Amino acid sequence: MIRANDNYGKLKASYLFSDIRKKVEKYQQDNPDKAIIRLGIGDVTRALPDACIKAFHQGVDEMASDETFKGYGPEKGYEFLREKIARFDFQKRGADISPDEIFISDGSKCDTGNFQELFATDIRVAIPDPVYPVYLDSNIMAGRTGEFENGRYQGIHYLDCTAENGFLPEPPAETVDLIYLCFPNNPTGTTATKDELKKWVDYARANKALILFDAAYEAFIRNPEIPHSIYEIEGAKEVAVEFRSFSKLAGFTGTRCAFTVVPKECMIYSGSGEEISLNALWDRRQSTKFNGVSYPVQKAAEAVYSQEGQKQVKELVSYYLENADIVTAAMKSLGFDFVGGQDSPYVWIDGNGRDSWEFFDMLLTSAGVVCTPGAGFGKCGNRYIRISAFNSRENVQEAMARLKEAL
Ligand code: MLT
Repeated sequence: MIRANDNYGKLKASYLFSDIRKKVEKYQQDNPDKAIIRLGIGDVTRALPDACIKAFHQGVDEMASDETFKGYGPEKGYEFLREKIARFDFQKRGADISPDEIFISDGSKCDTGNFQELFATDIRVAIPDPVYPVYLDSNIMAGRTGEFENGRYQGIHYLDCTAENGFLPEPPAETVDLIYLCFPNNPTGTTATKDELKKWVDYARANKALILFDAAYEAFIRNPEIPHSIYEIEGAKEVAVEFRSFSKLAGFTGTRCAFTVVPKECMIYSGSGEEISLNALWDRRQSTKFNGVSYPVQKAAEAVYSQEGQKQVKELVSYYLENADIVTAAMKSLGFDFVGGQDSPYVWIDGNGRDSWEFFDMLLTSAGVVCTPGAGFGKCGNRYIRISAFNSRENVQEAMARLKEAL
């Protein structure tokens, strides 16, 4: 008899953004004349930068001739891209990361979801609340939790992110082995200073723990005091893996390209306490289960680092940041408390006592605006909604005008 992985039975019925999509589709079917504006899932709306498009086309043309055709590429990604990433994203910021510590992939969702496979099932995992659901769900699937009770999975160490702690959790008093952090944060849009990140790096070094640092939104950082990479913190190379993506930086959500940094110094431990290279282990995993990102896509991603590309991605990110300014100005004028929207495309809004799914329904039905209910990111999100700045200027302006009318 073929038996199911019982851990899947512990998951909530469907993934947050699928739930929202179904609700919005149903509403649209029932109200075909209503023009809906989507500020829910953080999906970009603007075209790929011109520099990327040109390189993408060139990559496709190379596939059209036997002389330049490429079959399977290196599972880790082409050297031309890894070299640029190491130089521009890390070495230029004083972080000593080399190309062989970089693994190109088809997305940070897959990498943050897959990475936990390398660890024992009985490790103690610390996960922020609210959180990008992939970190928690992938650990549930792997059997690292008990049942769901009172809004929480047994066996997970939750790091509450609330207005009281400025949405920045402190390292726990007890020992945990694996820590998920995301800055600029999804969903709250908050950022962490070097001093704040240092506390986590020191904690991980003292406890032989590992930090999985999701920096998918680093391109939105404008404040020069905020670190872009955890490797700007001394000692982080021993205890942190970093996830980055071209999705929000250069509009690659549909094109798919990201990368994960696994430093050579980073060690994990066997049951008998022997050191195991995490870089070698992830390499082993990827070369078995992954066959790389397509050549034209990697050429397109490489173009981000050209002079033209750098200028164009800055413009792209600034466009969304200006949208975020429009959202925060509207929330201010409506008298809502919020965080984020600066150095981040997300605004995290306190619904003033409203339940987040009720607030979501109300905004959908009365204004035709889709947000993300905070409860979908965890118990601490129950009284919040998230508004994303990823849409056209006109739609964001129109959405805010509708909210002002509806509220
Ligand atoms: C979000 O809306 O939280 C993100 O778009 C999800 C993702 O990047 O997978």
